[in-house]
Amino acid sequence: MKKIIIDCDPGHDDMMAIMLAYASDKVELLGITTVAGNQTGEKTFLNALKVLTLLKAGGLPVARGFDRPLTRELTVAPEIHGVSGLDGANLPEPEINGIDEHAVDFIIRTLMQAAEPIILIPTGPLTNIGVALLKEPRIKKNIERIVLMGGAVYDSNITPAAEFNIYVDPEAAAIVFESGLPITMVGLDVTNKAMLTFKDINEIEKLAGPVSSVVAPLLRFFARANSDIFNFQGAPLHDALAVAEVIRPGIVKTSRLHVAVETAGRFTRGRTVTDVYGITNLKPNVDVALEVDVPRFKEMMIGAIRELDKR
Ligand code: BDR
Ligand code: CA
Repeated sequence: MKKIIIDCDPGHDDMMAIMLAYASDKVELLGITTVAGNQTGEKTFLNALKVLTLLKAGGLPVARGFDRPLTRELTVAPEIHGVSGLDGANLPEPEINGIDEHAVDFIIRTLMQAAEPIILIPTGPLTNIGVALLKEPRIKKNIERIVLMGGAVYDSNITPAAEFNIYVDPEAAAIVFESGLPITMVGLDVTNKAMLTFKDINEIEKLAGPVSSVVAPLLRFFARANSDIFNFQGAPLHDALAVAEVIRPGIVKTSRLHVAVETAGRFTRGRTVTDVYGITNLKPNVDVALEVDVPRFKEMMIGAIRELDKR
């Protein structure tokens, strides 16, 4: 079983990422770390605790990380995720507390003590991961790879140039992308296709189990927001696709390319500038996801919801 840590900012699709990992027998979730992004640090941490309470996953460590990006003001996304960060349904009040250790220290301690390499799956701004790499560079030897949701070659969502996670903390993203570690970038070019339609959401609602009956209205809220803003016909489960790639490597098809994070651009802050044609001659540093097996992804996600309903 592959050991993983999810660093996230829940967030509807972060929640689906946690669910996919927790339901899987192919990965062992060692802990959840949270970061400010979709909402404030306080709210994303609280949401992680609520999600784990719903899943009856109280034994999992949850560590709260940074409340703001390295150098920028925090940008949040209430228009997509609501004022709570997880609007659309009532999640249970947390029955767990989280651990009394900063996310960065949890990540460092877990990696330094690990007997075998761990896969990091960041699904929010990269603040915690960037700082962990700066604070204790020796963790690199125990990171098998980083499979992150963020960026895009062609697509964008928060500005015409950038994807949200990278835009929020481009300086942290630059540290991660320049780390020399094996990185898979699961960006908007594929995650916008990893969509559950309104019809899929209705089918999930019909399952009427303890998890599906909470997830369906949450997904409907998220799908409506995506429909209003991007004219999408459903809910793109960005973050869950990064987890899917770890569970079933190859669900996204990647190309090895050089990616630089724009930190200085006037209009292009946070763009993942990808050298598709090899124009720069810079050594490729990222496996960039360009295609996705959508039916297989949907099957995995709906299978995970069914499995969690039974537990
Ligand atoms: C990313 O931004 C957030 O709103 C989502 O949770 C996802 O991680 C998509 O750009
Ligand atoms: Ca996220």
